[in-house]
Amino acid sequence: MRYWLSFFLVIIVGAIAVIGIAGFQGGKSRKPPIEIFPDMDRQPKIRPQTGSSFFSDGKASRVALLGTIARGSHYLDTPLVTGQLTGSTNFVDVMPLAITAKLLARGRERYQISCLPCHGALADGNGITKKYGMAVVANLHDKRIVTQTDGELFKTITHGKNLMGGYGANIAIEDRWAIIAHLRTLQLARLGILADVPLDRRAGLK
Ligand code: HEC
Repeated sequence: MRYWLSFFLVIIVGAIAVIGIAGFQGGKSRKPPIEIFPDMDRQPKIRPQTGSSFFSDGKASRVALLGTIARGSHYLDTPLVTGQLTGSTNFVDVMPLAITAKLLARGRERYQISCLPCHGALADGNGITKKYGMAVVANLHDKRIVTQTDGELFKTITHGKNLMGGYGANIAIEDRWAIIAHLRTLQLARLGILADVPLDRRAGLK
């Protein structure tokens, strides 16, 4: 019997203590509420679009750098960036960059870094990866690929195609075009005929 009494007493005292500290639901108090983890309520931060003495210009928000493109916004719809005509999904036939010796040299170097391991130095699909079992690498001298537009090649490099992954995140836009320029020289070299060779160089050829 006495155990029961002390049990109820503990519950009642406990309830009074909780209500005394926390109050009734909806009850009003002038005292600030109890904060169990106060760091969640108050943080050392500055709110956007307000003033702040932290930065010299007195603004809490930073102005975006010139040329910043918002994540999720449309990227620039120009042939240089998409390989397609502005406002359409039609590929550009010819690359938007001027072909210079410098661009070709850059393209050769970038091709050898990014494409050669799979497609081979001659672009015939005989890269080192073939030895390790990657058997389906495209031969870039296939008529189907030779006759593709520069814009379509740009898309393949940027986003990948079928089993080939995209390299847009690894190769800068200008370098992708430079690679295409180099690839065209490889293709042309294979399709070349005697009439393409300067007269004084023809003698040694068979
Ligand atoms: C890791 C290996 C690998 C690398 C690196 C690679 N490719 Fe490929 N590529 C492939 C494979 C595999 C295919 C065949 C994809 C298929 O048809 O399934 C292919 C296909 C292609 C095609 C043909 C696409 C079509 O229309 O069918 C082109 C063009 C091409 N690659 C260009 C490039 C260029 C340019 C680079 C360098 C920037 C490159 N690839 C780097 C593996 C690679």
